[in-house]
Amino acid sequence: MNKIVTLNEFIIQTQKSLPYATGELSGLLRDIGLASKIISREVNKAGLVDIIGQAGEENASGESVQKLDVMADNMLISCLKNSGECCGIASEENTTYVPIDTKISKNAKYIVLFDPLDGSSNIDVNVSIGTIFAIYRRKTRGGSCSLEDFLQSGAEQVAAGYVVYGSSTMLVYTTGQKGVNGFTLDPSIGEFCLSHPNIRINEVGKTFSVNLGNYRQFGDDVKAFVDYCMTSAFTFRYIGSMVADVHRTLIKGGIFFYPATQKAPKGKLRLLYECNPMAFLIEQAGGKASDGTNRILDLEATELHQRVPVFLGSTDLVEKLEAIVAEHKTAKTKVES
Ligand code: AHG
Ligand code: MN
Ligand code: MN
Repeated sequence: MNKIVTLNEFIIQTQKSLPYATGELSGLLRDIGLASKIISREVNKAGLVDIIGQAGEENASGESVQKLDVMADNMLISCLKNSGECCGIASEENTTYVPIDTKISKNAKYIVLFDPLDGSSNIDVNVSIGTIFAIYRRKTRGGSCSLEDFLQSGAEQVAAGYVVYGSSTMLVYTTGQKGVNGFTLDPSIGEFCLSHPNIRINEVGKTFSVNLGNYRQFGDDVKAFVDYCMTSAFTFRYIGSMVADVHRTLIKGGIFFYPATQKAPKGKLRLLYECNPMAFLIEQAGGKASDGTNRILDLEATELHQRVPVFLGSTDLVEKLEAIVAEHKTAKTKVES
């Protein structure tokens, strides 16, 4: 039987291998792991208690909030507060950022952005949902954090990851140093155990993943790409939870995309706590993440809940999409000139 490597052991091993690592980041990752175990427990019994259903509120993106979203948000905030390594958080469920000004946290050097529960619309039908997180070094020097600590480009992330609450609960993360590693929760011992070391995405993808219900709302360039994929060479899969669709893309290869639509002209997915962390993971696994023209991780962050179009996954398919977008742009410029 192979030796079990728990998330905490892996984090310590990684920290030892990084000369400048001082342990604060390790503490943060441990706290996120703890919050994820508690959220997993609540998600797994959601059908049994009166926790399902609308909490009757709306989040900053104007979407109805499910009670599990609120529980997950509160759980992550309280675990991050206890660590003393995080001086502030921003999340989908909070209109603005939340400074953590306790004595032990006020001068901490990291901030965390997260989507506490992604794929909320799937909660009531028992389809995989998840948590997405991104960790940055603060830019301001000490004292209460400020908005500029959160409006950093994705390329500045020091760590990013997700937890997928599916047939099993898995935590997948990267610090940009040792690739992308996946840990499966063993409920019998309450530990995340290394199950997917050094995940690499297939260079060539054969699965495309998009909400085809929006096909008529796509631009001609995206329609042309979908038409390219609609051949027998490809398989179509779409779950409707970003975490689940991206996890499948990471493990099996392919492309996941949420383009701009007439209803969502800037796309639906949020740059800071959905697209950036997923783009960091996909790139670290050897793939590509783009808004159709630009690298996601280079996009300027202008507001906490800004939305961007996103195309991510196997490099060959993302580059095929980018080529079609560029061709359409050139053709349009020629017609206009
Ligand atoms: P959230 O539940 O955090 O608001 O995210 C939902 C997102 C994402 O998980 C998924 O990719 C997308 O919504 C699905 O949108 P459609 O239902 O419009 O396809
Ligand atoms: Mn989400
Ligand atoms: Mn969410």
